[in-house]
Amino acid sequence: MTDIRLDGKNIIVTGAAGFIGANLVKRLLADIPTATIIGIDNMNDYYDVRLKEYRLKELNKNKNFIFIKGNIADKNAIVSIFQTYNPTVVVNLAAQAGVRYSITNPDAYIESNLVGFFNILEACRNSPVEHLVYASSSSVYGSNKKVPYSTEDKVDNPVSLYAATKKSDELMAHAYSKLYNIPSTGLRFFTVYGPAGRPDMAYFGFTDKLVNGETIKIFNYGNCMRDFTYIDDIVEGVVRVMQKAPEKKNGDDGLPIPPYAVYNIGNNQPENLLNFVQILSEELVRAGILPKDYDFDAHKEFVPMQAGDVPVTYADTDALEKDYGFRPSTPLRDGLRNFAEWYKSFYKL
Ligand SMILES: NC(=O)c1ccc[n+]([C@@H]2O[C@H](COP(=O)([O-])OP(=O)(O)OC[C@H]3O[C@@H](n4cnc5c(N)ncnc54)[C@H](O)[C@@H]3O)[C@@H](O)[C@H]2O)c1
Repeated sequence: MTDIRLDGKNIIVTGAAGFIGANLVKRLLADIPTATIIGIDNMNDYYDVRLKEYRLKELNKNKNFIFIKGNIADKNAIVSIFQTYNPTVVVNLAAQAGVRYSITNPDAYIESNLVGFFNILEACRNSPVEHLVYASSSSVYGSNKKVPYSTEDKVDNPVSLYAATKKSDELMAHAYSKLYNIPSTGLRFFTVYGPAGRPDMAYFGFTDKLVNGETIKIFNYGNCMRDFTYIDDIVEGVVRVMQKAPEKKNGDDGLPIPPYAVYNIGNNQPENLLNFVQILSEELVRAGILPKDYDFDAHKEFVPMQAGDVPVTYADTDALEKDYGFRPSTPLRDGLRNFAEWYKSFYKL
């Protein structure tokens, strides 16, 4: 592997106003005060834009952060940003996320996840980078029966368009690594949660509903297991990966062996959906968001599985630990406690 020094360098982070992007930028600004972070985000309204503005407000206080409002699907804009800043490392987090939304709004996935990611690859070809790190997803495993999910498993059976676009990103990255010797690492994130997270995800949506006295839907009658991964663990993983890229080597044919890798980043400890709801409920009461005598049972509805969903996600993180000396470990209760406390202060409850 090739070590990469980030001091004094330009780093591009796409999706910088997003949940993972903003947390990553915050950490990079704190850890590497000599680096310049160029954040790109189109600030789309897939979910409440105020959350994106809130995250950006914090980042904009730092003079080493440059924010560019732009769409990665706009090739000229992206190529020109890369030419201007000549980034050493690029982290592509901009994407249309969410499994369920891909059923009603497929076009958004093609635009951001395929055309947008292709433009990032093209920009890396035109302005060579030392490492391209990009977000893939645990959803590429589809309804894989074998657990834990390993990057050695065959992932040719996506069950949502979202998953299909993420798998396609890995394939396109492989081709560009081979053709243009671009060191690239794809990271398959497993259900990321935490303060100022995404309102479209279960823990956030459940909280909104319970606060409003509405009923929450427990899919697959609660028979779901999820590897919930705390945001700080994801950021730790990304920061480590950014600084060590797959090595450039030539094969016997004299052509590059693609400097390409894919890792899982997940908690490696799947939690049953009902336990998760129980812990979340306790933490919402503890934070004072809901009263002690809240009737949780009256606000739960057990429903069948939804199209595009999978019953279990469970990450094998041995490769990440071997190559980067790290595996996520934040307990769900600690993470949900931080979320509940943030929620209370953000919504002034
Ligand atoms: N959060 C999770 O559980 C999870 C799990 C697996 C993979 N991922 C992946 O991680 C990445 C970050 O996810 P997140 O949870 O922070 O989502 P997010 O929606 O909060 O962040 C994505 C950001 O990208 C921006 N964006 C979308 N399309 C864009 C475009 N065409 N041009 C510029 N900006 C654009 C959005 O405005 C948003 O701010 C995504 O690629 C997502 O698919 C997330």
